[in-house]
Amino acid sequence: HVTRREDYREPDWLVPEITLDFELDPAATRVRATLSVTRNGNHDRPLRLDGDGLTPLSVKADGTDAVYEMDGPALVVALPGDDHIIETEVEIAPERNTQLMGLYASGGNLCTQCEAEGFRRITFFPDRPDVLSKYRVKMTADKARFPVLLANGDPVAQGDAADGKHWAEWHDPFPKPCYLFALVAGDLAANTATFTTLSGRAVKLGIWVRTADLPKTDHALHALKLSMAWDEKVYGREYDLDVFNIVAVDDFNFGAMENKGLNIFNSRYILADPDTATDYDYDAVAAVVAHEYFHNWSGNRVTCRDWFQLSLKEGFTVYRDQGFSADQGSEAVKRIEDVRGLRAAQFPEDSGPLAHPVRPDEYVEISNFYTATIYNKGAEVIRMMATILGPQKFRAATDLYFQRFDGTAATCEDFVACMEEAGGTDLTQFRRWYSQAGTPRVTATLEHEAGDGRAHLKLRQSVPPTPGQPDKAPMVLPLRIKLFGSQTATPVGEEQLVLLSDGDAQLSFEGVTERPVLSINRGFSAPVIVDTNRSAADLAFLSAHDDDPFARYEAMQQLMLDTLVAAVTQGRADHGPVIEAVANTLADPALDKAFVAEAVLLPSDSFIGDQLPVVDPEAIFQKREALRRDLGKALEQQWRAAYDAAKVNRFEYSPAGKGARRLRTVSLGYINASGAPDGADLAFAQFEGADNMTDRQGGLTSLVNSASDKRIAALDIFYNRYADNALVLDKWFQTQALATREDTAEAVEALALHRDFTLANPNRARALVGAFAVNQRAFHSGDGRGYRFVADQLIALDKLNPQTAAKLVPPLGRWKRFDAARAAKMRAELERILATPGLSKDMTEQVSKSLEG
Ligand code: ARG
Ligand code: ZN
Repeated sequence: HVTRREDYREPDWLVPEITLDFELDPAATRVRATLSVTRNGNHDRPLRLDGDGLTPLSVKADGTDAVYEMDGPALVVALPGDDHIIETEVEIAPERNTQLMGLYASGGNLCTQCEAEGFRRITFFPDRPDVLSKYRVKMTADKARFPVLLANGDPVAQGDAADGKHWAEWHDPFPKPCYLFALVAGDLAANTATFTTLSGRAVKLGIWVRTADLPKTDHALHALKLSMAWDEKVYGREYDLDVFNIVAVDDFNFGAMENKGLNIFNSRYILADPDTATDYDYDAVAAVVAHEYFHNWSGNRVTCRDWFQLSLKEGFTVYRDQGFSADQGSEAVKRIEDVRGLRAAQFPEDSGPLAHPVRPDEYVEISNFYTATIYNKGAEVIRMMATILGPQKFRAATDLYFQRFDGTAATCEDFVACMEEAGGTDLTQFRRWYSQAGTPRVTATLEHEAGDGRAHLKLRQSVPPTPGQPDKAPMVLPLRIKLFGSQTATPVGEEQLVLLSDGDAQLSFEGVTERPVLSINRGFSAPVIVDTNRSAADLAFLSAHDDDPFARYEAMQQLMLDTLVAAVTQGRADHGPVIEAVANTLADPALDKAFVAEAVLLPSDSFIGDQLPVVDPEAIFQKREALRRDLGKALEQQWRAAYDAAKVNRFEYSPAGKGARRLRTVSLGYINASGAPDGADLAFAQFEGADNMTDRQGGLTSLVNSASDKRIAALDIFYNRYADNALVLDKWFQTQALATREDTAEAVEALALHRDFTLANPNRARALVGAFAVNQRAFHSGDGRGYRFVADQLIALDKLNPQTAAKLVPPLGRWKRFDAARAAKMRAELERILATPGLSKDMTEQVSKSLEG
């Protein structure tokens, strides 16, 4: 069954208020719901309440037993007048809920996840985001087992009950859609603090975890305070309740959830200390804490009219959290990381069978649309509008948006209209970013007429066909452009913001006396692929002289990519220009270590594959290794110097500390790639001597990819040291699943039988199966065993947790990009999955779309 955007209709009934009464018990929880319902508009349709796996034990209308019908999983009541009180009662079993949607058990505690359509697994309700209600929630539970009872809003009352039970009542004064409902019951302790808002409201903050994990919550709590202050300063957004709670749980389908006043997090995005979390983890904790906090305005105060508008809250909130993270350290490095992520996840999605617009037109299962396109391309779309408007007008536009739509369920169109109004700009054509899928391609050709001092830049854009969208119209592409003189390295004029809106355009530059070099799409101002006529020498020049650090990184990446693509397609390539450019970058004293570390990294195997008409995983791996080896050998002394210079004596989570550790591990990688006989010893010493997880994991990764016998020793030491820490064990599985060894596929099959492996925990499933499926060389091993393994795991996982299983389909769906033999094997596995009896609708949608291509 397909849901279509064009079929949107206002809700037939509204529910201004709801009271929920929970008798909590893992095996059998009673849920009594009292809904005040109001007919919306002039119609005679019955009240229809969504349900999923619920059996009504009692249904009352205005105090007496109601006549109702079940229409599949939904409950339908015909009602005479316009206003009624409906009471329902159901029983659910949280401990048997392996989907982790609705009310479920994790580590002995009870928690909820309702977005997108989980609330209907808890009680009968019109489960759609444009029905906003005020919630009163009462929870009763065993006091010893569940001493802490939390829900949305503010706590209003609590007390003891018979049989060792107690109860608590919470009210949320802000009307909200049911996907933002949450409760938690458990044995938890809080790291608390007070944040005073701009207008002087004292907010009690609490981060709730197992008591033993309390020491790992300071970083998250600090990030929360920074986020609250940042949103006040940058967007003028203040928090609105007396409490803000975050709960960490170990079993969670995604990163975290922005439930009003009660965020629930995957524990991997809360817990951090130097011994167990890498710098990457620290950054991710802060970014996700910020993201969920920012949703309080972009998502909760202003929510979405329907799920087609998902990017309204997600794209905007990702854009906001990216801005927050950029302000905590290096803006350029943050941009590099975000663009790398976009290219790794969103570009492949946009060019594959699951491509969809930022605002999709239809879906079978909405959970399948929590994608890199909705989130990350969505954030790029907001960023482009911010670029076009400039900072002042953009802020005026977001102020207008928040003010106009506060307390309502809005659309992407509403957001763009505010941008237009406050920006004084016509965004009619720009709106195609919401409706057209596919990554635009820009061809930029710069020509110089030395004689009359002119340069001409020819631009051409095209948007590729995607499933269901064969023909595309030109987009508005904001391209930041600058020229540099190739001899003096001085800029030719100021940077320009060019809005390319036609298929073709031509730009002229005057007074260009020396041959110019083109710097284009600076800061990645548009999420597009740019093809230019720049030589290896030009790219090397930009990597050394561009005055935009992101553009320097880009030039280096393009040079590396051109070199590797030539190596794969022509069998050989000149490594000289890359080696020279990397040497210059390493030697440049003006650059910070974090930037250098990013700039000298080669593009990933999969990104190289994305440039080729047919991906040859083994050739890509070999050519990339060859370049790594040459870089390692040619610059061995510089790598060793960088390695030594980046040694930090004591762990400190700071931009400088992070940069040093990153450069150290990148250098270690190159020293090992060079084949230096002491490479494994260096890695092992780093691994053993580390006072933090970043260095330890860096050493382990080098060892795991090496032929050294220290590999097994290090894996054992790591395992034994962290055997009781689930999040670190995930790293142990993941590092092995990402290994570039000959025998990785075999090793991963064995790890799936390890006593610590389980598909019931999404983090563990992703650490092994998810990581392996993006290990291009190992997953695509010619015998097809990687495909078979992943398909077997997905079939098993779908029975427990369809959402998490369906998220892991895309790597198999990329069969069209590979040679006929691999493509046939991949298709065969997709067919086998599709033929599995009882396959979920989540998997059915993903797999059948993948087969159609
Ligand atoms: N809104 C949450 C966030 O991005 C994620 C919810 C994901 N839900 C889902 N069904 N995949 O912060
Ligand atoms: Zn979000």
